[in-house]
Amino acid sequence: MPSAFRCAIAPLLAILLLCTPSSARVAANGDFAPSEAVAKQNGFQIFNAVHSAVRQWGSSLNHNGLSLFLATVPEGVLLYHGTHTKEPPLGPEWLSFEIEHAENFARPRRQRPPPDVPSKPGPPPEHQLPLHGNTEIETEERDDPRDSHGYLQIYQTARPVRLLYIDGMGAAKTSMGTLDTQDFLLRGNRSTSFLGEGSRAADLCEIATSWGLQGVIRMEAGFEIIKCDFSDSLRLVSSNQRPGDSDRGGTDRPLQTFEYMRAVSQRYHSIGSNRVAVDYSSMVSALFYPLNLTNPDPSYSHLPRLISSTDAQLKAVKSRVADVVHDRRNGDHPIIDWQGVVDMVVARYADKLIYMAEGVNSVETLMGEVNGLLNLHIDYAEDDKDFINATKICTAFFTNHITPFTQEDYMVLAGIESVTASICSALFAVRKIVVTDHNADDKSLAAGRAALQVLVKDLKWSKWKECGRCGYDEVCFVAMWPFGDKMSHEQPNCRNRTSVEGIPSGNSSYWPDFWWPRPKPESKGRLSISGHGDL
Ligand SMILES: *[C@@H]1O[C@H](CO)[C@@H](O)[C@H](O)[C@H]1NC(C)=O
Ligand SMILES: *[C@@H]1O[C@H](CO)[C@@H](O)[C@H](O)[C@H]1NC(C)=O
Ligand SMILES: *[C@@H]1O[C@H](CO)[C@@H](O)[C@H](O)[C@H]1NC(C)=O
Ligand SMILES: *[C@@H]1O[C@H](CO)[C@@H](O)[C@H](O)[C@H]1NC(C)=O
Ligand SMILES: *[C@@H]1O[C@H](CO)[C@@H](O)[C@H](O)[C@H]1NC(C)=O
Repeated sequence: MPSAFRCAIAPLLAILLLCTPSSARVAANGDFAPSEAVAKQNGFQIFNAVHSAVRQWGSSLNHNGLSLFLATVPEGVLLYHGTHTKEPPLGPEWLSFEIEHAENFARPRRQRPPPDVPSKPGPPPEHQLPLHGNTEIETEERDDPRDSHGYLQIYQTARPVRLLYIDGMGAAKTSMGTLDTQDFLLRGNRSTSFLGEGSRAADLCEIATSWGLQGVIRMEAGFEIIKCDFSDSLRLVSSNQRPGDSDRGGTDRPLQTFEYMRAVSQRYHSIGSNRVAVDYSSMVSALFYPLNLTNPDPSYSHLPRLISSTDAQLKAVKSRVADVVHDRRNGDHPIIDWQGVVDMVVARYADKLIYMAEGVNSVETLMGEVNGLLNLHIDYAEDDKDFINATKICTAFFTNHITPFTQEDYMVLAGIESVTASICSALFAVRKIVVTDHNADDKSLAAGRAALQVLVKDLKWSKWKECGRCGYDEVCFVAMWPFGDKMSHEQPNCRNRTSVEGIPSGNSSYWPDFWWPRPKPESKGRLSISGHGDL
């Protein structure tokens, strides 16, 4: 359905308030503006970005995020902070959604690396260190007995907390493009180091605060908030000292990487219990704009980058984010649950498409599968030549009840419908080969499968990289910064405690900038990656 029509059927108020200003704004920006044509071109990526929002699984695989959303943590949500002191920090500081993520940082100061981390070679910055830490004072106080323990601080939100969600793996401190949206688009700084977390958090908080938000949500191995001011909207529940090396119960310290991976793997498909409410209608994405998203490194061509976009272009996108946040930060606008829509599409097609593309071995079976997916869209009483009407109905099946409101809704819709159009046209093309053609044979089967293999390759649904059921003593292991080897990114697989804690060694890390420790002599050549404090 063309968008002009959708505008026309929206209530009169919407026409005046939303449709007109949006298009006026688009026109005012001259050539550089979001467009449904671009959203269609980037449809596969937009679809997957919506599908992976605030989900650990797809965001780990497609780690270069290009989209920003308003997000709210409701009242009453528990959040965790690990540190070397009992006192709450002022902020900006980090809060994690997973206990184990914060436990990883609940260590004495002497086991934590200094805040000003040397440039390469060296470990990445300890990302839950106090940001305003002064190196000299740090050194003097290093042996202060008060700092000789770790503390796990638990907070609870006292009211809804409004934040900016940066998608992909935005907390991965890499030069691969995981930070492009933060550094190039939001901060407008191309000369910053990917290691400079302190200045990044300070800049992000300045921007968020000026927009009336309390911080940002990002993801690494686990979701986290950079909370700009700990005295705002948080209640301290407890700040408990962690066991020391000599305490009973301290034998398992530092926290085992395997337990940490097990915890974050529980969030692969949902952050759980509605702990983050995403405003999908606020999604502003570089994927809506005519930008050059090419990755200059050909070996990572599947991962988009903002490096080839101009400053003026990125500034225009940021200014749109500011407008959307300004318009919607009160949270009283209608929100379209776009993730619910794409979930319905994936649920209907994912298993059947991969089965038809890779599993089916008879024409009859393929015929049955295709008919099962398409029959509902066909009126056999009509002479719908080449199934043009039926393909349209199939394309809009999960979206035709939706009335978009924001400019961004129109872009997301265009992206999603370009994907469903690809699915429906491919299926009708296969139908022609194996159903309409009464002489369909093994050649038809091969041609049908080949067409579906192309579709599957374009769709790149993260569901197809899932491990299946792992043993109770295993975790489906995907590379999540700073963990994981190349194999765990390309083909995530079930791994037990031994194999998770024994990898990666030296150069096998998936994360090219990450510096791994040399084996300690007493560890008999096996590397421990349990906690950054070991580095
Ligand atoms: C960019 O970041 C670098 C390093 O953090 C900083 O020295 C510089 O002042 C920043 N530039 C701008 C324009 O903010
Ligand atoms: C897009 O960026 C890539 C990588 O920087 C560059 O090689 C290519 O020429 C650019 N394409 C256009 C159309 O500018
Ligand atoms: C296709 O749809 C249009 C509009 O709904 C309808 O007028 C037309 O009769 C349909 N054609 C066929 C062949 O079903
Ligand atoms: C863990 O996995 C490794 C590699 O797959 C295997 O060799 C080993 O036997 C497993 N260990 C246990 C305790 O199951
Ligand atoms: C890591 O890579 C470098 C250069 O690519 C190579 O010289 C070195 O031997 C490698 N180290 C290991 C442990 O594989």
